[in-house]
Amino acid sequence: MTQPVVKRSPWKKILIVALVLLLICCGGAVAFVTWLLTGNKIDTFGKVDFANQLAIPALAPSQVDAQGRRIFNLTAQAGQHTFGSGRGGNGTTWGFNGDYLGPTLRAKAGEQVVVNVHNKLDETTTVHWHGMHLPAAMDGGPHQLVSAGKTWSPTWKIAQPASTLWYHPHLHGETADHVYKGLAGMFILDGDTPKGLPETYGVDDIPLIVQDKAFESNGKLDDRNPFLSGVGILGDEIVVNGTHSPFLDVTAERVRLRVLNASNARVFNFGFDDDRRFDVIGTDGGLLEKPVSMDRLQLSAGERAEIVVSMKPGERIVLRSYDPDLGSLFDDLKGGADQFDVLQLRAAASLKPSAALPATLTTIDRLSNPAVTRKFSLSGHSINGKQMQMNRIDFAPTVNTTEAWEVFNNDGDLHSFHVHDVQFQILAVNGAPPPPHLMGWKDTVLVASDMSYKLIMRFTDHADPNVPYMYHCHVLYHEDAGMMGQFVVVQPGQSPGTPPSHEDHSAHAGHH
Ligand code: C2O
Ligand code: CU
Repeated sequence: MTQPVVKRSPWKKILIVALVLLLICCGGAVAFVTWLLTGNKIDTFGKVDFANQLAIPALAPSQVDAQGRRIFNLTAQAGQHTFGSGRGGNGTTWGFNGDYLGPTLRAKAGEQVVVNVHNKLDETTTVHWHGMHLPAAMDGGPHQLVSAGKTWSPTWKIAQPASTLWYHPHLHGETADHVYKGLAGMFILDGDTPKGLPETYGVDDIPLIVQDKAFESNGKLDDRNPFLSGVGILGDEIVVNGTHSPFLDVTAERVRLRVLNASNARVFNFGFDDDRRFDVIGTDGGLLEKPVSMDRLQLSAGERAEIVVSMKPGERIVLRSYDPDLGSLFDDLKGGADQFDVLQLRAAASLKPSAALPATLTTIDRLSNPAVTRKFSLSGHSINGKQMQMNRIDFAPTVNTTEAWEVFNNDGDLHSFHVHDVQFQILAVNGAPPPPHLMGWKDTVLVASDMSYKLIMRFTDHADPNVPYMYHCHVLYHEDAGMMGQFVVVQPGQSPGTPPSHEDHSAHAGHH
């Protein structure tokens, strides 16, 4: 006999399956969120072998011509850089006058400089002088294209204090790629500085171009944006001056480190492995009025700081980057939990005596009484809801005018804010007076989640109604995606003109 067919309702089965699926999904979701919040921490503390001597970028040679102008030559070119420890040497890197990064340019306040920028790459690039006060047509932003095979020769007079500036490409939409491949270098300005600061380049005055990189197993630079980072490339390894796992031999009691965060997006939080204090003596645009003793220092991409650290004979310390404070729940996706060993400093058995640091480094005239206040809301890939357009001038400051700029993070993502042409002062961070190390000249600030700034700056000269300067997020992925705007500096009563046509220019150059 046949079993009576028990008509079991299919609903129960469906319900069970649905419940199981729901549980899996929930579990998955919980695991996913947990991973989002904590799961991708990079930690290289104690894991770096410091096997490679830190490379020091060469000082760029220069000639002074009959008119007294100091002439430099930079050639952007492709190469195959070896970072050390099996990294690199496979696949293309880019550099100026070499395979990776570029030489350090050095000039004095008052000098007229000329830089012949030769482009030996197969594609158009530009070279921007980050932090430099100069005419917009010399600025090397996205309008000053240097096509493949061409030379661009900007010239300007150095008219700002001693400082650590840098240079890098600024081709709209391609900046992240060009910088990541290796196009960047330092531009040190000399001027009135007090006696007693370490100042022998490469000996007790050391440039540190710090970058995060990712490498494929064959040593090739990996330029993929990590999943969900939202800020583009975040590498899991550090190179300094293009050297992987670097050490520096220290021969003097005090060493000055000119630290440049030349990463595409990553924020570093520098400090030493024994938590020793160091003196911050300078920021983006020059020396601070007095040294500021600190044990941690955050730098977002594009920012610089000059620090002085003291060492005892024979000791070894490690410059590290501790996990930075980015202020949001999803920090870990943007590098907020990551920590790195950056550079080992090895003091010689006997050290050359160094002078004590001067108590006063410089004087800074405080800017006040802004005539104009502007607001900048950073959100998505836009500033004030607008994305970069090459032919749109967003506003026009007037020469000899002081302006206050209020900048705020309006989306909780990781941003920074950089202004061309000027160095500014910070009046307020999150509504409060800035900490002492942010009281000097700045051109770039970290605008992490919920942060706001009131900046003050003065537009002094170089009026040109047609050629714009940029302001933008220095997270290069955001900048390339359109988080940038343009201003022109005008004479009183003058209205903004029209930027030179980018398209025509490049088409023209391309047909030669
Ligand atoms: Cu460092 Cu507009 O750039
Ligand atoms: Cu941004």
